[in-house]
Amino acid sequence: MKSADWMMRYERLALWAEGMWKERHGEQAYQLLWASESCGNQLAQHRLKPRRRLRGKSHFVGVERLPCDEVITISEYVVPGRTAMLGESVGAFAFKFEHPDGDYEVLFVSSYFRDDDPNIVAIALVPSDQLDSWVHFESLCNEVVRRPSRRQDVYIIGGTNAYFKPTVEWDEVILPTHIKEDLRSDMEAFFTDGVSIYQELNLAPFRKLLLVGPPGTGKTMLCAAMAKLALKKKRVVVYVSGADDDGASFHKIHHALNVVANAGYPVLLIVEEIDVYLRKDDKARILNVLDGLESPNNARGALLLATTNYPEVIDERIAKRPGRMDRILVIPPIQDEELATQMLKHYMGPQWQENHAEIVPYLVDQTGAFVREIALHARMLAAHNQQREVDLATLKQSVGSLSSQINTGDDLMPRRAMGFGKKAKGNGFGIPDMERTRPVVEGEGEGDED
Ligand SMILES: Nc1ncnc2c1ncn2[C@@H]1O[C@H](COP(=O)(O)OP(=O)(O)OP(=O)(O)O)[C@@H](O)[C@H]1O
Ligand SMILES: [Mg+2]
Repeated sequence: MKSADWMMRYERLALWAEGMWKERHGEQAYQLLWASESCGNQLAQHRLKPRRRLRGKSHFVGVERLPCDEVITISEYVVPGRTAMLGESVGAFAFKFEHPDGDYEVLFVSSYFRDDDPNIVAIALVPSDQLDSWVHFESLCNEVVRRPSRRQDVYIIGGTNAYFKPTVEWDEVILPTHIKEDLRSDMEAFFTDGVSIYQELNLAPFRKLLLVGPPGTGKTMLCAAMAKLALKKKRVVVYVSGADDDGASFHKIHHALNVVANAGYPVLLIVEEIDVYLRKDDKARILNVLDGLESPNNARGALLLATTNYPEVIDERIAKRPGRMDRILVIPPIQDEELATQMLKHYMGPQWQENHAEIVPYLVDQTGAFVREIALHARMLAAHNQQREVDLATLKQSVGSLSSQINTGDDLMPRRAMGFGKKAKGNGFGIPDMERTRPVVEGEGEGDED
């Protein structure tokens, strides 16, 4: 026999499991199988209820954790809703089943390959005559692990919960009414009537909207407000974040698409800063998703809401290719004094005074994020100087210091300034008024890399 040092990981697990089987079941015949890691996942064990019926006349009864000197049971946690839950786990388990011909067990053990390898190896010892029931059980485990539970708010892939909270009210987003209404009615029309139309045409009901705009105009806020509306209508919201150690990998999109396809409910899928995925080596795969080759097929409908602030990336890869995005909506900076006043009033809150309106002309063409900062800054300055009210001078001082900070930033980052600093006609954003579907320009298209 091989010495323990030279055995593969699965061989060590199998050896342990075979010994355990002999101890518990003597000479009963078994089949040694590769198994799905999902069976060890605590979400599966939590979501699959005892008495669950399986193919082959079996019922799942429950699970017992077994001590095993080859693996120390360890779990990841997930925060799918408000409370933390255990998720992916490795360890040794006995799954118990009832059957009219006699109850039986399946021994299951899983482990990570190595410290630095997050892949899981899992094996199962299954009574030879119960293969069919086990296969069914395993597929149920896979399904419930991927499916978000309807009670949770937003199913977040990557990042931490802190990055996305659907607590924004629709009315808090200050933008031209036609932009907001366009977006909202697009979502409603899709979920109520669009899905069946796509199906009549034999297309996967997957609609794709893109929000484009400079930093700080409220795209993330708008996504959060859309998420809140969607949750109210009992849709599932899936949010992909690039903000974690993994960064923006296609792996996350892939995971998200699995969740979308298996959700069993209509889904709003939010992918922020989609340009990042389009710059990487695996961009061809995300383009395939947009082109429909790898689109999720969720019969209840899936709406992708993506954001970006890089029109040049979008121009090349998306806007010039009809069909990749169904609609592109520009989220512009503040366009007129009326919106600027509304924004300033909103962020000055109870400190608002009529004479503050004097700075309104300076706020046109600025972003919501800018107005929020000057208002906060002015309110803090006033508090610091022990003023009970924010006077106009303090507000002006705040505008001045924030503007000069931004101008310094432009010098530090000339490239980024080029994209948004110089204004074009139209929406002031370097791209013609959207949304549009431009025909493919001659000389591009078929032949190039994507
Ligand atoms: N249209 C708006 N209405 C109200 N508040 C806004 C608006 N735009 C921006 N803000 C304020 O600025 C903050 C930043 O905006 P947000 O994160 O939504 O910008 P963004 O467009 O997503 O920027 P980025 O492209 O850098 O991600 C918001 O949390 C909000 O406080
Ligand atoms: Mg954002």
